[in-house]
Amino acid sequence: MIEASAPSKVIIVGEHFVVKGQPAIAAALDVRSKARIEENLKGIIIRSINLNFEVMIPMELSGSLPKEVEPFRRILKTMSERYGKLRPAKITLESEIPVGSGMGSSASTFAAFTAAYSRYLGVELSLDEVNEIVYEAECVVHGKPSGIDNTIVTYGGVIAYRKGEGFLRLNVKINQDYAWLVADTGVRRSTGDLVRRVLDLYDKYEEVLMPLYHAAGHLAIEAAKALEQGDYEKLGELMNINQGMLEAIGVSTLQISEIVYKAKEAGALGAKLTGAGGGGAVLILAKRGDLNEVEEAIKPYTAKIFKTRITHTGIRVKEFNER
Ligand code: PMV
Repeated sequence: MIEASAPSKVIIVGEHFVVKGQPAIAAALDVRSKARIEENLKGIIIRSINLNFEVMIPMELSGSLPKEVEPFRRILKTMSERYGKLRPAKITLESEIPVGSGMGSSASTFAAFTAAYSRYLGVELSLDEVNEIVYEAECVVHGKPSGIDNTIVTYGGVIAYRKGEGFLRLNVKINQDYAWLVADTGVRRSTGDLVRRVLDLYDKYEEVLMPLYHAAGHLAIEAAKALEQGDYEKLGELMNINQGMLEAIGVSTLQISEIVYKAKEAGALGAKLTGAGGGGAVLILAKRGDLNEVEEAIKPYTAKIFKTRITHTGIRVKEFNER
């Protein structure tokens, strides 16, 4: 049996602005998705525990399939075209990441699937190849995403990302005195819809919004420096400014603001929505000593709180011998 996993992602600063070419900073979190592969004789069965479906894809990859399965068909098609082979299998997908929360659950699942299935085929894929294949699958779900999700879940760590230019790995100074919380609002939303809404607003008010986009780019550069210097007080302030910018482009909500203000009242250094907004998750930075108080303060406004850490492990593949 083969099992692969991939981390989740948070955007520390720069979401939406990244779509128009500004830099953004993202980190991989140790909340993971898994794909487990077992031998099967008939076709390619995909079972998703979180989305509650089990579907068989025929070996010729033809026919009509539920829309949740289309990204997997896409991945299989690419593998078959590039490597000239497919093998029947049963692939079970399971994720700790809430779907549609801005934590990259789709990219993470596609990365785990791609890594596990390629190992099953006996094809050695480089991380760059996995990243490319996951991006194509992301396009099936999200239209034309910036590429930040597939990149961070594949490589792990903390990156500065700029569309069209790829990414730069940041050498982050971890300081155990500070910690992250990710609060899920429980409100699911579509990244594609929110991105379109923001782009429409940009087209309507280009002269007004262009300086804001430039400022967001400078903010991301400052945030990268703060991370590399281990200056978490400064990083918190920059996150708060970024939240104001995201509010300005209309992607925050009352519930997000409640979490942000309650967290800051309880001592958090920085709090902002992460991902597309409109619901989804809120990222909070606090001194470790203030963590419990912050958690208690935001609990009534959240569906789930993740106390987690940044991970340098992107895709991981394990092989088990069956007894
Ligand atoms: O909410 P998510 O995890 O899908 O993140 C979206 C991030 C955006 O910057 C809004 C879009 C993108 O493609 O980068």
